[in-house]
Amino acid sequence: MPIGIFDSGYGGLTILKEIRRRLPQYDYLYLGDNARAPYGSRSFELVYDFTLQAVNALFERGCQLVILACNTASAKALRSIQQNDLPKIDPSKRVLGVIRPTVEALPGVSASKHIGLLATPGTVASHSYALEMEKMDPEMTITEHACPMWVPLVENNEANSPGADYFVKKYIDEILAKDTLIDTLVLGCTHYPLLIEKISEYVGSDMKVISQGALVAESLADYLSRHHEIETKCGKEGGLKFLTTENQEKFDEIASFFIDSEVHSQRITLQSPCRSETSELLESIKEHMPEEAIPLLDAFITLYPSDDEAYTIRGIKHWALGQRSLAINNYLSAIRINPESRAKMALQAANDILDYYNKDLLNP
Ligand code: DGL
Repeated sequence: MPIGIFDSGYGGLTILKEIRRRLPQYDYLYLGDNARAPYGSRSFELVYDFTLQAVNALFERGCQLVILACNTASAKALRSIQQNDLPKIDPSKRVLGVIRPTVEALPGVSASKHIGLLATPGTVASHSYALEMEKMDPEMTITEHACPMWVPLVENNEANSPGADYFVKKYIDEILAKDTLIDTLVLGCTHYPLLIEKISEYVGSDMKVISQGALVAESLADYLSRHHEIETKCGKEGGLKFLTTENQEKFDEIASFFIDSEVHSQRITLQSPCRSETSELLESIKEHMPEEAIPLLDAFITLYPSDDEAYTIRGIKHWALGQRSLAINNYLSAIRINPESRAKMALQAANDILDYYNKDLLNP
């Protein structure tokens, strides 16, 4: 079974490359959610939802272990997936991130104990690096700075353009102005190694610039040596496959540039996990209808407002409240979005019940 490596786009390839260099014997399956990248400016809920979909897709393809080779996903989704989802999906599977292995390697690298973190707005807003660092070595100072333009530059193959020079200079100047004692810059986004030459050139040789690939690879090697129950399940034929949610020709062309070898990917579509959870939800609604279920229904509807499942649930809610025509309108909306929607069954049931009552009314 392959080790799954996930990123919102191409950035995780910088991690994959180092992992393969360190652990060439294993099989790997890479998934880039390129169709929905970048994740860096997206909300917590969306990053969590998308990441869970990706992890499920890799599990379905046999992965026992998935590495979130994306700081944004590690910052916003890893903990919830480990604590809430894995026990339900399969407690024997594992999902690991890239933030802890990076932070673990930092004490000792900075003489001034002042570190600068360059990352996406999502990673910075989560303060995951500062929180991990606080646990690891409270004497270190970490200054976090968001670089929203760097991922789009890399994703659009503009990492060597004059535009990239401008934005490298801009964000480096900004972070160094926040703390003049910084002597080490950490590239806390897996896309950024593509800009490392420009960054190193601009900051000069007195500043250490650290990218994560080798650190994550070393930490994975250590993890596998300590977890035989996982290690024995990892395929060892040196295989490498790629999945993308975008056009595969485009992925193959750009990805080959990241890992310096030919890439032949397969396109997949990621599905909302709420679909697979719907039957569970419907069961719990049946048990608690109507009052206790209403907050649960509302929470679901807010999370997936335009989804056919949300319309189905809205219909069920209105039905529970006795608002029959509103219920039926919602079922119809669900069917318009997805002709195979479960609302079809609900609508059929609603019609049957109405038929029954009509008959009853006609023949008291
Ligand atoms: N490569 C990802 C990371 O490490 C994020 C890129 C994105 O914004 O999608 O944070």
